[in-house]
Amino acid sequence: MNGFWDTLPRPFFVLAPLANVTDAAFRRIIAKYSRYGGRDIDYMKKPATIGVLGGPDVMFTEFISADGLIKGDWDAMLLDLKYTECERPIVAQFFTSTPYHMEQAAILAKELGFDGVDINMGCPDRSIERQKAGAMLMRDLERAKELIVAAKRGAGGLPVSVKTRIGYYKNEIERWLPALLVAKPAAISIHARTRKEMSKVDAHWDVMGRAVEIRNELKSETRIIGNGDVRGLDDAREKARTCNVDGVMIGRGVFGNPWFFSPEQGKMVSAEKKVVVMLEHASLFVELFSGKKNYETMKRHFKSYVNGFRGANILRAQLMTAKTHDEVRQIATDFMGKNF
Ligand SMILES: Cc1cc2nc3c(=O)[nH]c(=O)nc-3n(C[C@H](O)[C@H](O)[C@H](O)COP(=O)(O)O)c2cc1C
Repeated sequence: MNGFWDTLPRPFFVLAPLANVTDAAFRRIIAKYSRYGGRDIDYMKKPATIGVLGGPDVMFTEFISADGLIKGDWDAMLLDLKYTECERPIVAQFFTSTPYHMEQAAILAKELGFDGVDINMGCPDRSIERQKAGAMLMRDLERAKELIVAAKRGAGGLPVSVKTRIGYYKNEIERWLPALLVAKPAAISIHARTRKEMSKVDAHWDVMGRAVEIRNELKSETRIIGNGDVRGLDDAREKARTCNVDGVMIGRGVFGNPWFFSPEQGKMVSAEKKVVVMLEHASLFVELFSGKKNYETMKRHFKSYVNGFRGANILRAQLMTAKTHDEVRQIATDFMGKNF
């Protein structure tokens, strides 16, 4: 009934959508280092061992404008819709406030072979809210439901999920969650903060427990996924146990840490390994997006990888001045005193 969501272990772990972070390059790196212990893998092959070596059990694309798809902004969109077999199950996330656009986006996701379609109903970004999309949908319950129905119409049997927050100005879970559940999405990921709170306060995990109770009281089959401030897999398991959520979604915890979902996580990663993986990640970025996505995007990753070892602040400062991938490679080589 809920597609692949029904086949997952409990609790399951989900890689959050992070715009300009969890692109196809980073998702491949996470698949390699979390699922396969860093072994060289054929990215084009479906993983045979999901859940054996490590997670994540599900990956999401960055959010993609469904309006853009209709307007024909194809080049940028198709870059964001790039994925390979090693990322499965992979869910395409879209934002819009127009049900017809959502339906068309879902049709495309089905054609491209995605495993699911997700609707963003939590983004606080002003440019998204001006389009009456993202978090703004928490203030238009009818529209939110119409979008789910439209996505289901287009998705041709793929499970449709929603990612949202606990409310707009205040905790509105008692009103907001039942309104969503009426439209029977396969899963709802809840970032445990309000729109107003952005990311400025601690996530309210107590509200996640109540969300699960509401789902159970309404005898709904929708999977509830908790999200916000999860620091490691042990923390994720503990939160899942105390709040009874089906799954846990992790975002910022993966910055500079593609090992997050592996059984190895938490172990010390050497400076050399961090630099090697950073360069591998950057090379993959160039290979996939050369000339199409700004290499500056990689700098956020550099800051995150280059951390927690002697001289990291010097190396980080040097990397911030680099203009090209060759310069980055040279800076890393000079710093480590060996060729990369
Ligand atoms: C840089 C960045 C980009 C994000 N992009 C998206 C996005 O494209 N779609 C979305 O639903 N949420 C997005 N989010 C929100 C995250 O998915 C997640 O809900 C939030 O970071 C809280 O989880 P965390 O504490 O584990 O990071 C973004 C957050 C950050 C920090």
